[in-house]
Amino acid sequence: MAMADPEPEKEQELAKIPYYVALTTYFAYGLLFVYGHFRDFFRSLMKTEKSEKVGYAPLCRDFEDFYTRRLYHRIQDCFNRPIASAPNRTIDVIERVSYDNNKTLFRTNNTRTCLNLGSYNYLGFASHDEYCTPHVVEALEKFATSTCASQINGGYTVLHEELEQIIAKFVGKPAAMVYGMGFATNSTTIPVLVGKGGLIISDALNHSSIVAGSRGSTAKVAVFQHNTPSHLEQVLREAISEGQPRTHRAWKKIIVVVEGIYSMEGELCRLKEIVAVAKKYKAYIYLDEAHSIGAIGKTGRGICELQGVDPADIDVMMGTFTKSFGSCGGYIAASEDLVKYLRYTSPAHIYATAMSPPAVQQVISALKVILGEDNSDRGAKKLAQVRENSNFFRDELRKMGCEVLGDEGSPVMPIMLYNPGKIPAFSRECLKRNVAVVTVAFPATPLLLSRARICISASHTREDLEQALQVISEVCDMCHLKYFPVGMTEKEKALLTEKEKSL
Ligand SMILES: Cc1ncc(COP(=O)(O)O)c(C=O)c1O
Ligand SMILES: *[C@@H]1O[C@H](CO)[C@@H](O)[C@H](O)[C@H]1NC(C)=O
Ligand SMILES: *[C@@H]1O[C@H](CO)[C@@H](O)[C@H](O)[C@H]1NC(C)=O
Ligand SMILES: *[C@@H]1O[C@H](CO)[C@@H](O)[C@H](O)[C@H]1NC(C)=O
Ligand SMILES: *[C@@H]1O[C@H](CO)[C@@H](O)[C@H](O)[C@H]1NC(C)=O
Ligand SMILES: *[C@@H]1O[C@H](CO)[C@@H](O)[C@H](O)[C@H]1NC(C)=O
Repeated sequence: MAMADPEPEKEQELAKIPYYVALTTYFAYGLLFVYGHFRDFFRSLMKTEKSEKVGYAPLCRDFEDFYTRRLYHRIQDCFNRPIASAPNRTIDVIERVSYDNNKTLFRTNNTRTCLNLGSYNYLGFASHDEYCTPHVVEALEKFATSTCASQINGGYTVLHEELEQIIAKFVGKPAAMVYGMGFATNSTTIPVLVGKGGLIISDALNHSSIVAGSRGSTAKVAVFQHNTPSHLEQVLREAISEGQPRTHRAWKKIIVVVEGIYSMEGELCRLKEIVAVAKKYKAYIYLDEAHSIGAIGKTGRGICELQGVDPADIDVMMGTFTKSFGSCGGYIAASEDLVKYLRYTSPAHIYATAMSPPAVQQVISALKVILGEDNSDRGAKKLAQVRENSNFFRDELRKMGCEVLGDEGSPVMPIMLYNPGKIPAFSRECLKRNVAVVTVAFPATPLLLSRARICISASHTREDLEQALQVISEVCDMCHLKYFPVGMTEKEKALLTEKEKSL
């Protein structure tokens, strides 16, 4: 089929999809593409005035443009939904109407209070908190919303310094620096670390900030199979024996980039084995803990704590404050020398406005709650709660027969949808029943592997989760999403998990 062109590793992913699901998914996309091209053909006949500027090359890439017009437009009511509340346990979704088949959507004055299964609010800090909020308000009044300057030019407040010290101590590195944006932390740090003559080896399921970072550097990029240490070893061995392209000189340096929790898969990084391989070949490790910091590990210190990896073995620890801490921004924690070097060189540090002071205070306060320094056990309770909630929800979804990705303990759990028609169906039917879910489709996932991504929070109660499960079960029956028959044997389940691992 013309449109799919699955890359080699995608073929392997397809092997795990039930045969008829793959077939109907291909068929549905085929139909959409044929019909879309058909309409495009007529559009080109009918169109009198050109919307493009004559004599200019088109600004939009062909496929993406086609995808937007003919596929995305049909389901765009499921995305960019306006929200009228905090991303709390519940979320107020504004209802919209359309008079032209959802091409343009207008806000109404009605909101719908839904159970929130979409936000990265793992510890429930994204709402009023008895300890954090008063401190944040105080910081807002003292420091204002913005520093109106980059850190290097007067945007470095005492709060920023305090956060750097706390976060370095929290993750177990000698030093840290903070950035105004998590995305920019990756995308501007990677090019500073590795350039011409260097090699970046990234997990196949890299986040777009890493991709942006790697493109921004002149280093060569290699990819290893998702979460597969043995393949990493193979890639490393081949890369080292080959050397740089053409010249075959030795690589200047090699950096392996991995994530603690893969945000589209809910999978935990097999960090221990990856560290062992990287050490063997003297490659540096860049660990992105955007989703794992604060969310996993007994005291919330992330994947290293969970898997018993010494933070000293990780050269660059990156993370964001946008998830568990209910704030914004990101950090790099590393050796004193590396942090000093980044302060001289990192564009996001030198040119971008520093993190907003109230947002800094939010992270400081949230960390104090996690560490129990607010003189309560709320932090420990939140950590235990998110773990318990996640495992309960995942187990129940699996029992129901849904195809759920992700590892035990991870608060991110995608439910596989596959078929393009099921994306809007799942999203709209859940919304109708007052459950807000996020659906993810191309280009964030491969075209065929659309999914709904559930994010569990410590703020969900058992009743919330039970209600959500009932709704999801109903919707899954309606959309035929229970791909795996109920009562599957343990052996079959193990086989399934094996296959999932190889995804
Ligand atoms: C793995 C990963 N890295 C980086 C980012 C970017 O972080 P931020 O949203 O704080 O810019 C995200 C956010 O979704 C992410 O999932
Ligand atoms: C437009 O969106 C609504 C839900 O928001 C849905 O019920 C309806 O079927 C959609 N219409 C089309 C033509 O896709
Ligand atoms: C929504 O509320 C505003 C202000 O109260 C009002 O002017 C507007 O007409 C309302 N819109 C609808 C669609 O009811
Ligand atoms: C968040 O939700 C909790 C529990 O439902 C509620 O008590 C609290 O007021 C909410 N906070 C905000 C800021 O909406
Ligand atoms: C880059 O940063 C984003 C957001 O901070 C995070 O979600 C992503 O996992 C990071 N990716 C890598 C490879 O560091
Ligand atoms: C990210 O992953 C894709 C697909 O596996 C790969 O083609 C690309 O080179 C990777 N990019 C980076 C910067 O890691």
